[in-house]
Amino acid sequence: MTDLLKLGVLISGSGSNLQSIIDQIEKGTLPAQIKIVVSNNPEAFGLTRAKKHGIPCAVLNHQDYLSREDFDRELIHVLQNAGVDLIVLAGFMRILTQSFLRAFESKIINIHPALLPAFPGTHVQQKAVDYGVKFSGCTVHFVDEGVDTGPIIIQSVVPVCLDDSAETLAARILEEEHKIYPQAIRYFAEGRIIKNGRRVEIKNMKNPDHTAMHNPPLDR
Ligand code: GAR
Repeated sequence: MTDLLKLGVLISGSGSNLQSIIDQIEKGTLPAQIKIVVSNNPEAFGLTRAKKHGIPCAVLNHQDYLSREDFDRELIHVLQNAGVDLIVLAGFMRILTQSFLRAFESKIINIHPALLPAFPGTHVQQKAVDYGVKFSGCTVHFVDEGVDTGPIIIQSVVPVCLDDSAETLAARILEEEHKIYPQAIRYFAEGRIIKNGRRVEIKNMKNPDHTAMHNPPLDR
């Protein structure tokens, strides 16, 4: 049996992405193990989810630290002690410092609820609705020093409908997040990721579907 990929999952809120990872691990479809869940928010519901599955948790309340550097120093310590191979940001709403990025070079991934490079940052489902884009989606990417700028691993596209609110669009996107995040982690666990500058190649991939999508649909 191959070694399980050891994950450190960082959260700030509901933790539905964390749940999708837990579910796939428990189903046996993701050869990984969550060594620790860390939240910067003591009230995060994701902590309850983790505890229910017997996963060790740590709370590092950012308000208890004088600077980002102090907070990240402790975060590095906790994650190194847990012996993690990959850091998975799952709704973690903190910007990480250079020291953190250096400590886990090419080992930090994030999920973002938009089709990057469109709509980086926050409140992005509202921004997509307001802009009038016809498609949005979600992106799993490596974390670099920019905000949502790192090399892209996998994306999923969803239509944006005229009657969408930020909430209905967010729900449609979240359903896809729960599919692509475990998939991206599986690529790591299976050693299938080759990062070449900005371009990420997945080894032994199925042929991509070349069918175009249209929204609104073509008349014929
Ligand atoms: C998800 O939509 C995730 O993409 C987003 O926060 C939500 C967390 O949901 N992350 C970001 O916006 C990061 N910039 P969850 O706590 O239910 O997984």
